[in-house]
Amino acid sequence: MTEYVLPQHANALGNVFGGQIMAWVDLCAAICAQRHSGRLAVTAFVDDLKFESPVKVGEVVRLRAHVSATFRTSMEIEVRVEGEDSQTQRSWACVDARLVFVAIDGSGKPTPVPPLAMDDEGVRSSQARGEARRRARLDKV
Ligand SMILES: CC(C)(COP(=O)(O)OP(=O)(O)OC[C@H]1O[C@@H](n2cnc3c(N)ncnc32)[C@H](O)[C@@H]1OP(=O)(O)O)[C@@H](O)C(=O)NCCC(=O)NCCS
Repeated sequence: MTEYVLPQHANALGNVFGGQIMAWVDLCAAICAQRHSGRLAVTAFVDDLKFESPVKVGEVVRLRAHVSATFRTSMEIEVRVEGEDSQTQRSWACVDARLVFVAIDGSGKPTPVPPLAMDDEGVRSSQARGEARRRARLDKV
């Protein structure tokens, strides 16, 4: 997803509001979860967020999401957010986020999601790390 930062997205310093970035992160992750599951998906959990560097009015926010692990009806989605100066092409890290989405069937109940294809070591290790984070998350709730 690509967003151009307008004055209505910014605080008094001319930087994008954290809440605006969070809304874009949620939207980007929802699209990713729905593409993977083929279902409507709702946000169940958002991990801690650290805002590394600001993005200002007139700059661009780029968001990239992927499914980092799948469980029975839930999925962990990672979103990388970068700022971009579209005139110079310079880009920088803004936020890395992880969210859990649950796929919902036509009667509003959680429904199974397809597993990630475990066809390479990168995916297997991403799934294993996601399972460890899931245990930590579910201990908190
Ligand atoms: C998320 C939600 C659908 C889960 O429903 P539920 O009746 O608790 O369902 P279950 O207990 O069967 O859990 C379903 C899955 O959600 C996961 N889950 C539920 N709460 C969770 C949480 N706080 N963090 C992470 N995962 C969670 C469960 O681990 C389970 O995953 P699994 O099937 O992959 O093992 C329900 O709590 C809900 O609708 N919450 C509000 C969502 C919302 O309004 N989001 C914002 C707008 S989109």
